[in-house]
Amino acid sequence: MARVIAIANQKGGVGKTTTAVNLGASLAASEQRTLIIDCDPQGNTTSALGFPKDPARRTLYQSLILDEPLDRIILDAQVEGLDLIPSDKNLVGAAIELVPIENREYKLKSVISGVLAKYNYILIDCAPSLDLLTVNALAASDSVMVPIQCEYLALEGVSELLDTLMRLRRTINPSLAIEGILLTMYDDRTTLSKQVAADLRSFFGAQVFETVIPRNVRLAEAPSHGMPVMFYDIHSKGAESYIQLAKEVIANAQKRIRQGIGSTDSGAGLNTAAAAATAGADSGGLPTGSANGGGNGGSPGTE
Ligand SMILES: Nc1ncnc2c1ncn2[C@@H]1O[C@H](COP(=O)(O)OP(=O)(O)O)[C@@H](O)[C@H]1O
Ligand SMILES: [Mg+2]
Repeated sequence: MARVIAIANQKGGVGKTTTAVNLGASLAASEQRTLIIDCDPQGNTTSALGFPKDPARRTLYQSLILDEPLDRIILDAQVEGLDLIPSDKNLVGAAIELVPIENREYKLKSVISGVLAKYNYILIDCAPSLDLLTVNALAASDSVMVPIQCEYLALEGVSELLDTLMRLRRTINPSLAIEGILLTMYDDRTTLSKQVAADLRSFFGAQVFETVIPRNVRLAEAPSHGMPVMFYDIHSKGAESYIQLAKEVIANAQKRIRQGIGSTDSGAGLNTAAAAATAGADSGGLPTGSANGGGNGGSPGTE
């Protein structure tokens, strides 16, 4: 049975799509059969995997709204072990057209239930919003991975996201766990990056992946060549970091099995994370840059 992981943060440009594409390819390279679902009408994941815009192509829209079987929409992502459910701008309509549908929050969950047995991992790349499509993604997921950019204002919106996740756990998906918080676009030459990373770790503790994704130009270039970075430049720091992340995700799954921990247990971390984020927000540090939140006087403005 696949572990379904939503990659979500309502902030745009934090590395959700980059993570979906490159973690997906790295999991597939580690012999984990992986499906990436492009759940963003911008279709960036679809094009980053080498599928140019094509109005004739069926997408997640047809499956969600027109009940087209998912099997007829799945594409071979031209990487062994990696498949894709593409998206395009029509998906914008889905968020609205879902509204009158019965069980509208669970439509994606029911759509993917038929393919869970085919995969080890299903990664859902979410749009930068908390609309009904993203709610569908979170309702369908075992866990959520939150990429956070290592920059000033990094935590802006994170407490809102965590609030939403908590609300979802109470109502729509009680077993939603936190897969981890991923630090992206880390630049070890700047004090600011180091400061933000240190503060995020002190806020979120063990919820933060040990693997950090560096700012790496190869990661930004690969999508225009329509391929994951590991096929574009396997020796790049970007490729190495996502391979490392895949190892960490797989190791965490093995740890959960050894410890017999259900996904609900790890959800406790969500409460801790939300509490930490709220505490940070209360102290005035969180929304304006985590570097203030730790109370250590470090100012992100010193960079
Ligand atoms: N680690 C990184 N190093 C350099 N550029 C990156 C990195 N991660 C993402 N980018 C670039 O930053 C932009 C936003 O990333 P993207 O993954 O599309 O974010 P999101 O899906 O959250 O909006 C893209 O142009 C992408 O190529
Ligand atoms: Mg994106």
